[in-house]
Amino acid sequence: MSFRIQPAAPARPNRCQLFGPGSRPALFEKMAASAADVINLDLEDSVAPTDKDSARANIIAAISEVDWGKKTLSVRINGLDTPWWYRDVVDLLEQAGDRLDQIMIPKAGCASDIYAVDALVTAIETAKGREKSIDFEVIIESAAGIAHVEEIASASPRLKAMSLGAADFAASMGMATTGIGGTQENYYMLHEGAKHWSDPWHWAQAAIVAACRTHGVLPVDGPFGDFSDDDGFRAQALRSATLGMVGKWAIHPKQVALANEVFTPSEKAVSEAREILAAMEEAKARGEGATVYKGRLVDIASIKQAEGIVRQAEMIGAGG
Ligand code: COA
Ligand code: MG
Repeated sequence: MSFRIQPAAPARPNRCQLFGPGSRPALFEKMAASAADVINLDLEDSVAPTDKDSARANIIAAISEVDWGKKTLSVRINGLDTPWWYRDVVDLLEQAGDRLDQIMIPKAGCASDIYAVDALVTAIETAKGREKSIDFEVIIESAAGIAHVEEIASASPRLKAMSLGAADFAASMGMATTGIGGTQENYYMLHEGAKHWSDPWHWAQAAIVAACRTHGVLPVDGPFGDFSDDDGFRAQALRSATLGMVGKWAIHPKQVALANEVFTPSEKAVSEAREILAAMEEAKARGEGATVYKGRLVDIASIKQAEGIVRQAEMIGAGG
C-alpha cells in the first residue's frame, strides 16, 4: 500500500448527465423535470457558431429562472482553441446566479488548460465576491487528453468529474469509426472462424478511471449516439460500470432511465454486499482475515468492494 491514501471522490449522485443545447431553451424545463442527477447545458458543439451569443444569454437566464431541484447544474463552455470560451466564463461568472454548480471544460489536453480556466474563474469569483466556488468537470476526448490524463486529473482542486468523449476522441486518434461509442464492426478477434467483438474504448476508460481514482475525481462515461439502441446503450454502460465509472451521459431523455438503472446498485448487489460485510465481521470476531462466502474467498479487499457498493446505494437511497 502506498503511504499516500487514495482520496475519496465527491459523494454525490452522478449516474446520468443529461445534455441539451443552449440554443434550445424550450428543453430546459424538461431537463429540470428529468431524473438525471446532473444537467449539462451546452454552449459547445451542439450550438452553431451563429447562436453562441444567444445560447449564452439563454443559459444565464435559465440558471436563475428554472427550478433545477437538487441536481448538479453544469454548463459546457467552448474549447480553449475557440474565440468563445473566455466570454463563456466571464459572462457565466459575472452574470449567472449562484445556482450554477459547475463548468465543463471540453477537449482538455493538458493540465495548463485547466490552470488557465481556473485562473480566470478565481479572479472573477474574487472580484465579484461570489460566495459559492465553481467546480470543474472535464472531457477527455483527444490524443493529448488521454496522453496527459493523470496531470489533468490533478490539475485543480475544483475538478470533480472527468468524462470520456468517444466521438471527438475517435476523430483525434484517427480511429476508423463513425459511431459515438459502442461496438465497432471492425474491432473483432477471430476464433475458430467465429467473430468475437472487442471493446475499443476499454483502454481509454481504464486510463481515465485510474487517473480519477488516484486523484479523487468521478470517472464518467460520455455519450452513446444511437439513442434508438437501448440494448447497445445498456451494454456500454454495464461495461463502464464494471470498470469503475459512476455514470454516463444522456444525449436524449430516453437514455436517462437506462443510465440510472445501470448505475444504481441493484437490491441483490446491495444485500450481497451487506452479507459479505456481516461474514467478514464474524470472521474478524474469530480472529480471521479471510473467510468463505457462498463457496468463494472473501477477505479484507472484499470489505472495501462491498463497502463501496453499500456507500453508493446509501448515497442514492437505493437497495434499502
Ligand atoms: N432534454 C430534455 N428533453 C428533450 C431533449 C433533451 N436533451 N431532447 C429532446 N427532448 C424532448 C423533446 O422536446 C420531446 O418532448 P415532447 O415529447 O414534450 O415533445 C421529447 O423529448 C422527444 O424528443 P425527440 O423528438 O425524440 O427529439 P428531438 O428531435 O427534439 O431532439 C436531439 C433530438 C438528439 C437533437 C436532442 O435530444 C438533443 O439536442 N440532444 C442533446 C444534444 C447535445 O446536447 N449534444 C451535446 C453533447 S454530445
Ligand atoms: Mg466533444
